[in-house]
Amino acid sequence: MNADQVVHLNGELLPLADAKISVLDRGFIYGDGVYEVVPVYGRKPFRLREHLARLQRSLDGIRLANPHGADEWARLIDALVARQPCDDQAVYLQVTRGVAKRDHAFPAGVTPTVFMMSNPLVLPTREQVERGVAVVTAEDNRWHRCDLKTTSLLGNVLMRQLAADQGAAETVMFRDGFLTEASASNVLVVRGGRVLAPPKDHLILPGITYDATQEFAERAGVPFEIRPVSRDEALTADEMWLSSSTKEVLAVTTLDGRPFAGGVPGPVFRRVHAEFQAVKRSLQAA
Ligand code: PDD
Repeated sequence: MNADQVVHLNGELLPLADAKISVLDRGFIYGDGVYEVVPVYGRKPFRLREHLARLQRSLDGIRLANPHGADEWARLIDALVARQPCDDQAVYLQVTRGVAKRDHAFPAGVTPTVFMMSNPLVLPTREQVERGVAVVTAEDNRWHRCDLKTTSLLGNVLMRQLAADQGAAETVMFRDGFLTEASASNVLVVRGGRVLAPPKDHLILPGITYDATQEFAERAGVPFEIRPVSRDEALTADEMWLSSSTKEVLAVTTLDGRPFAGGVPGPVFRRVHAEFQAVKRSLQAA
């Protein structure tokens, strides 16, 4: 932790060590808030409009008014990004329902708390990209509004730890026999040269990288089909990928301790990954 890192709290830029909030903040007491993680390439936020639209959707989902318009968010994010040493960053932003006497029901007339920080973007290593990563599997036991990006992440935290305990990168989840997502990423599979992606319903987060992956796949001439994916189809797929803002797209090559999909990233992954890197390089160079 770097105490001098400049962060944003309620409209102010200040050192991390000075950014303080009340213990009665509903984010702390109830996990009553929403968040976004926006990757920044060459100091330019990637798909910012899409992230801000999803933020609005999450805020609507928890019935909290957006404290800023999209242009204002963009300005605040640019100001934060400008104060960091690295060109490639990951902006974390969260909005909570604010500080109030503890009572589950919404407080009246309370100002939301806005916190943002931007850290160096830590992408998968070259080895992880070239060799793929390990995942474990589990039954999805989270709530039924996984489409909202809320800070109440205990279900996801426990799932991620299940993977960490076994030295794996992620926990891939299934609900009632169908693939949902992983603890902090979406999951896509490839069968017969087609990408199969679970529908963006209430059981998964509508990933911005999922959408980018769809675009890159289609641009690379790879069919992309959105439909429920059964556990059997996932476990016998030709390829399995993770997608997220901080993982980009990553191949799964070990599943529950056994080699998966031949134990190497597949040909469809390599095409889509190459497309992703080309787009990223053009952003970094712009
Ligand atoms: N997580 N599903 C879940 C449960 C996630 O937490 C995330 C992202 C995704 C992928 O969404 P996107 O492509 O928009 O990043 C899917 C972020 C990175 C996090 O919590 O750190």
